[in-house]
Amino acid sequence: MKKHILLGISGGIAAYKSCELVRLLKKQGHKVTVAMSQAAAEFVTPLTFQALSGNPVLADTHSGESGGNGMAHINLTRNADVFLIAPASANTLAKIANGIADNLLTNLAAARKCPLAIAPAMNVEMWFNPANQRNIRQLQADGITIFQPTEGEQACGETGIGRMPEAADLADLIPDLWTPKILAGKKILITTGATFEAIDPVRGITNISSGQMGIALARACRAAGAQVSLIHGQLQTALPSGMVETIQAVSAQAMYEAVHSRISAQDVFISVAAVADYKVKNSSVQKLKKDGSGLPPVIELAENPDILASVSALPNAPFCVGFAAESENVLPYARAKRLKKSIPMIVANEVSKAMGKATNQITIIDEYDETSLPETDKNEAAAAIVERLAQVLKAQ
Ligand code: CTP
Repeated sequence: MKKHILLGISGGIAAYKSCELVRLLKKQGHKVTVAMSQAAAEFVTPLTFQALSGNPVLADTHSGESGGNGMAHINLTRNADVFLIAPASANTLAKIANGIADNLLTNLAAARKCPLAIAPAMNVEMWFNPANQRNIRQLQADGITIFQPTEGEQACGETGIGRMPEAADLADLIPDLWTPKILAGKKILITTGATFEAIDPVRGITNISSGQMGIALARACRAAGAQVSLIHGQLQTALPSGMVETIQAVSAQAMYEAVHSRISAQDVFISVAAVADYKVKNSSVQKLKKDGSGLPPVIELAENPDILASVSALPNAPFCVGFAAESENVLPYARAKRLKKSIPMIVANEVSKAMGKATNQITIIDEYDETSLPETDKNEAAAAIVERLAQVLKAQ
């Protein structure tokens, strides 16, 4: 869903990250309008944001407000779906928390009708200052989203919490602001990516899964209000932000253990990982060498546990969603897999249209219905799965 984002920038070195943020939000297809405080314009010029956003920038050149009819603080937020202030200085967020409106950004915040989100950026001592923490709590109590600052080296030379999240992380989290919270409060565990079964210290058995579908689902569940934990094997894509926990599990056995040590706390388990069905029984601690005989080494295989089936067999099993990756007879095989693994929902996809790709063609099969989607972006496929999951959970 394409939105109009009003991006407020207050004074701080983190303003440089907002240049990239504008680019990423535009890439997601949104319209971005930038409003800058006087101090922000000393870090990055309005011209930079004008070029990146493709829209005129409203700069706070004199106190109060600016704009053609003197009503910019009203007009701008009326056209916006969301107002994001990134970076927000301690000073700006303190004013907003207390209803002070004495410059462009604080006027926009006070006069807005749309939701407000704030990404603070400041020195670690300023962040933990009791007055600042009080202001943050007040903003949250007022229904304002705070994108928590991260820890690291700061412009002042100190180290600690107070850095604005990276632009890519903010761009990942921003669509959550307008996504309906249809999975609010649900705890969801997702596995994704390809497992890797070692033959020796440098070689192994794996598959072409990129992890994109599971990552898209993790994002979609998070955006819908769920608390998501992600266990992943090998990935060819970046991890999502805002997870409760992100755990790497290389082999099927490691993934099995990571899943089972967390499963009792979960409402839903979504098994997207492409798990190797077999592991190497005689894997070598040392690198295998050619012995000169011309004969290839014998690799013996042993069956891996079926993680999904083992979870669905638990006495208090969470609601389980599986994926069926098939190269032929997609729907019959997927239907049979759902029954064999005793799971309420399975997503069928054909490997040539799914694995390693940014798009997918899925059919959601559950105990009530089957829904086929046209070939689509994995994010859209994930949103459709989340919608159906919420419906079925509600019907239970
Ligand atoms: N799965 C699992 N553990 C395994 C194998 C598969 O948890 N050892 C899960 C997958 O994450 C997926 C579902 O089971 O959700 C189906 O996986 P798939 O590879 O399509 O099927 P398999 O169960 O391996 O069956 P087959 O090899 O007969 O296709």
